[in-house]
Amino acid sequence: MTMNASQKPTLFVAPSPESWAACAAEMVIATASEAIALRGCCYMALAGGSTPESLYRHLAAAYRNRLDWARVQFFLGDERLVPPEDPRSNLGMARRVLLDHLPITSTQVHAVDTQGTAYQAADDYHRRLCEVVPGCSPDTPPRFDLLLLGLGTDGHIASLFPGNPALHVHSQWAAASGPGELPPPVDRVTLTFPALNAARKILMLVTGASKAQAVARVLRGDQSIDQCPARGVQPAQGEVCWVLDPPAAGGLEIDTAAKG
Ligand code: 6PG
Repeated sequence: MTMNASQKPTLFVAPSPESWAACAAEMVIATASEAIALRGCCYMALAGGSTPESLYRHLAAAYRNRLDWARVQFFLGDERLVPPEDPRSNLGMARRVLLDHLPITSTQVHAVDTQGTAYQAADDYHRRLCEVVPGCSPDTPPRFDLLLLGLGTDGHIASLFPGNPALHVHSQWAAASGPGELPPPVDRVTLTFPALNAARKILMLVTGASKAQAVARVLRGDQSIDQCPARGVQPAQGEVCWVLDPPAAGGLEIDTAAKG
């Protein structure tokens, strides 16, 4: 699969690791503000894992009163099948460092119900997306205004892992996903590619030298989606921006990355 010119992602490299969170936060706020101005609401899917924590903390600290958060609906790009109070929970992390610090109500947070099996949770989340996101139906994927994604060292995004059957689910917007090679080894629910690629704006949040090789592999573009799932992030009518810190950009040609 090749990217045509219109789908080329934007690369942004923060001036330093320390400034990455502030740079990423500015992009989140700018995108959310535009969505609210244009459509009265921002439908935002949050990334899990550890990378976004510094971004979420910065948003809660510096932007608590600088966005009409009451007009944001929060979703998760993926979730581990653990209770919300489990330290491995993506929702739990987002609540601890962001959501519990914002002037929002619980009805704005659309969590994955992790009480049943991954299949039950995926079916339920698919139905929830169809109910809550405007224009979303069993035939039309949800169009998030902003989708935040991290990147695994194996090239996965959300819980779409290399060789995972969920990579090829196109009839549902959320799917069950077995544990990948990377920790934590628990079942998951993940948005599927139709849901990811319907987004208006996707921010690929990647920091740290450990991710440099994966970033280069994805952007080099010579592997299949099964080998490198992040290659499948190609929104038909949306933008992708890689928001990197210098170590994560270490594998790129300097002139291909916009210096922040
Ligand atoms: C998850 C995440 C996952 C994450 C990457 C990067 O549930 O694990 O959604 O896709 O974004 O694995 O994780 P780190 O940010 O912890 O490196």
